[in-house]
Amino acid sequence: MDSSHPSTDHLILVGMMGSGKTTVGRALAARLGRPFFDSDNQVELDSGKTVAEIWRESGEAAFRSLESEALREAVQSPVPAVIAAAGGVVLSAPNRAILAKGGTVVWLRVRPETSAVRVRSGSHRPLLDEHAEATLRRLEEERGRLYAEVADIVVDVDDFSVDQVVEQVLVRSRARR
Ligand code: S3P
Repeated sequence: MDSSHPSTDHLILVGMMGSGKTTVGRALAARLGRPFFDSDNQVELDSGKTVAEIWRESGEAAFRSLESEALREAVQSPVPAVIAAAGGVVLSAPNRAILAKGGTVVWLRVRPETSAVRVRSGSHRPLLDEHAEATLRRLEEERGRLYAEVADIVVDVDDFSVDQVVEQVLVRSRARR
């Protein structure tokens, strides 16, 4: 195999803010001995700014464009990676096409009442204010069908620990091979 070609065997996590993509993704990468990419982190590395700064100084559209670039970079990895794709990645049709070609897409599905508690830590979510649960519920209504469209596997995370979610993703992604 020519190792300079992008892998199409990535494990890609999608889902709402607070669904655990970064935490679960990091643990999965460690278990599988794979590199880990997080699109928000990649945007910050590429731009030298935090997500909040980009959003404040240049607006959401500028952030979304950097986010698409970060996703393209992540799937370029020639070795299979674990990729945490931030919550809004699915909003763009070209991004959804990249996800579909990039490997196995796992939707970490979370109820808004669960994610609202989890998003209290973290400062990279300018969409959320003190009404996080209502906003998450509205965004979930808008995006749910998009996550469903791209997902090969759906894992409901609400009642499970990080280790249990990791285990489910491993078992179910292996079963697809
Ligand atoms: C967003 C999700 C965030 C971050 C930004 C916008 C969204 O990432 O990219 O605040 O639109 O859902 P996480 O999904 O990692 O929280």
